[in-house]
Amino acid sequence: MSEPVVKPKIGYYHRHLLVCTGPRCNAEGVPQALFDSLGGKLKAAGLDAGDLRVKRSRVGCFAACKGGPIVCVQPDGTWYYNVTPENMDRIIEQHLRQGQRVDELVFHQAGAPDIET
Ligand code: FES
Repeated sequence: MSEPVVKPKIGYYHRHLLVCTGPRCNAEGVPQALFDSLGGKLKAAGLDAGDLRVKRSRVGCFAACKGGPIVCVQPDGTWYYNVTPENMDRIIEQHLRQGQRVDELVFHQAGAPDIET
């Protein structure tokens, strides 16, 4: 007789930040370092708890593979490229805290064609 499947729990969150640390994005470990910095950055911004809590996860590859680090914000469907530490700070403040996209860093918005620059 098999054991019943346990239903997982991850708790409340408002947005989910997905960071690609895949092999074609992870040159010199930059995206991994970006991901590792997020715990402290989100906590400092008050986004580690409460109504605007942000969950973060690493992703193996989004099949985008250019202009990294690449970060996707869900459920907004907003895809950012060139997410340097400074640009991550802008995304945290403007998008995750204030709810406004950082348009100049967006390369794709779900439901719309790719953004050409
Ligand atoms: S390795 Fe990052 S999108 Fe493919």
